[in-house]
Amino acid sequence: MQAPYIAVANAEDLEPGRFLKVEAEGRAFLIALVGDDLYAVEDLCSHEDYPLSYGCLDGDRIKCSLHGSRFSLKTGEPLNEPADQPIATFTVVIDQGQIWLDPSRATNAVG
Ligand code: FES
Repeated sequence: MQAPYIAVANAEDLEPGRFLKVEAEGRAFLIALVGDDLYAVEDLCSHEDYPLSYGCLDGDRIKCSLHGSRFSLKTGEPLNEPADQPIATFTVVIDQGQIWLDPSRATNAVG
């Protein structure tokens, strides 16, 4: 893989149903494998900039532990209040046993 992709973890570290927290370029991201789909979101709730890594996965959603908003891992869209803004989503792929993330821009134009 080439820039802007960065190797952030071994693919072996991914566990289905759990997210993996990684850091790249001074920011924290959460990687999740749900079924055959791989997702990456910034570890930052859009409501009050709280780490989503304190929350939990709920299928292809992530739930913030502070006020309970859920977000789509696919689109970043909030699915319930109080959050009303999306979280940032990023392109992530597995290649040669590594997880590669493009932290340079959010795929949903957030962040
Ligand atoms: S900080 Fe996440 S829902 Fe309020």
